[in-house]
Amino acid sequence: MVQIAYYSITGQTDTFIQKTGLAAHQIEDAHPQYRMGSPYILVVPSYQDFMMDSIVDFLTYQDNKKNLIGLIGCGNRNFNDLFAQTAKKISTTLNVPILYLLEFNGTPLDVKNVRQIVTDLSEGEPTSEVTKPKELGKISFLSGYHDETR
Ligand SMILES: Cc1cc2nc3c(=O)[nH]c(=O)nc-3n(C[C@H](O)[C@H](O)[C@H](O)COP(=O)(O)O)c2cc1C
Repeated sequence: MVQIAYYSITGQTDTFIQKTGLAAHQIEDAHPQYRMGSPYILVVPSYQDFMMDSIVDFLTYQDNKKNLIGLIGCGNRNFNDLFAQTAKKISTTLNVPILYLLEFNGTPLDVKNVRQIVTDLSEGEPTSEVTKPKELGKISFLSGYHDETR
């Protein structure tokens, strides 16, 4: 099973993760350095960069960058172009695909779609059955799965 790591400041992302019923590691500000050790998806809310030090500490810890295979971005569409800016920045910086975007603690459809994505990924399948949010084009995330260059 693909693992999940997530970060939450005001609790929305935490609530979303609980709604999915999926086991996940919560990145803690007090000790963000935690080694995932195998492929995982990172679920991140969006804030200004200076509020994301724990995410940077987590991603740069041991082989966490290498094992990151996809991102799920949480945010608020009222931020317009800055919607899900944290996931977008990590995606660009580390060349890791965004698998899904959602607002706040997610709708029932978001819960269903993310569960589907995690299941498909765990089985090595593309997520073709999931309708992607309008900000995302067609995603072929498995193409970067074994990229050793990043
Ligand atoms: C100070 C602050 C800045 C935020 N900046 C952004 C942003 O740039 N883009 C975005 O999509 N959402 C932004 N949000 C919304 C949060 O990302 C969103 O509410 C998210 O669900 C919060 O997740 P959390 O409760 O797990 O921390 C911001 C919220 C706050 C309070």
